[in-house]
Amino acid sequence: MRRKLAAGNWKMNGTTASLSEVSALMAAHPEPGCEVLLCPPATLVAAMAALTQGKIAVGGQDCHANASGAHTGDIAAAMLKDAGASHVIVGHSERRADHAETNEMVRAKAQAARAAGLVAVICLGETEAQRDAGETLDVIGQQLFASTPDGATGANTVIAYEPIWAIGTGRTPTLAQIAEVHDFIRSELAGRFGAEGGLMRVLYGGSVKPSNAAEIFATSNVDGALVGGASLKAADFGAIIAALDAA
Ligand code: 13P
Repeated sequence: MRRKLAAGNWKMNGTTASLSEVSALMAAHPEPGCEVLLCPPATLVAAMAALTQGKIAVGGQDCHANASGAHTGDIAAAMLKDAGASHVIVGHSERRADHAETNEMVRAKAQAARAAGLVAVICLGETEAQRDAGETLDVIGQQLFASTPDGATGANTVIAYEPIWAIGTGRTPTLAQIAEVHDFIRSELAGRFGAEGGLMRVLYGGSVKPSNAAEIFATSNVDGALVGGASLKAADFGAIIAALDAA
């Protein structure tokens, strides 16, 4: 009932030359069973959307909470939509850290995304110190509650659990730790949103690669992945898509 989702976050990587990886990915996986989403830098959204023609969904990596105005350097959700995006990542831990984004700001961005007709991919994750202190579920519960707007649905919202200490480090939680957090998120979503909460996809992110994708995708309440580094190369991201299709 929840379609699996393989999402790639290119972060601040990629120029037009990188679109050849997208062409290679589409050639190798012309009809994936799962939904596939790539979130390139904003400069590539329009060109990637023109290339993929909806076969791979394209998303932004951030949007401003306002619809327009004097916010030099920022991008409104409607601008991403206009460029061909269908999704936008909000509240990635790198934006929370680099740009001091709070849960309240993330929730406002998710609302702006919805108003523009974009699916918001809302990111959550604990630091290593918080995990070591036994605070993981408290932190995730608080972020989930405060970053997710009322009225979120399975159609307009995806949740991504990305433990900060697993991002770009090659380290991943144990499968039991992933299951614990995903089961918790699933039950919190059901408690707050009822049946609609059961329709929201919950992705795992943090050092997902071809060698660990299958076991992560077999883990309880994991509906797919948000992939950073391994989404930049068609061969790696293609192998992750294949693992998700097989799950
Ligand atoms: P890595 O897959 O490079 O660890 O990044 C995960 C991530 O932050 C995706 O948003």
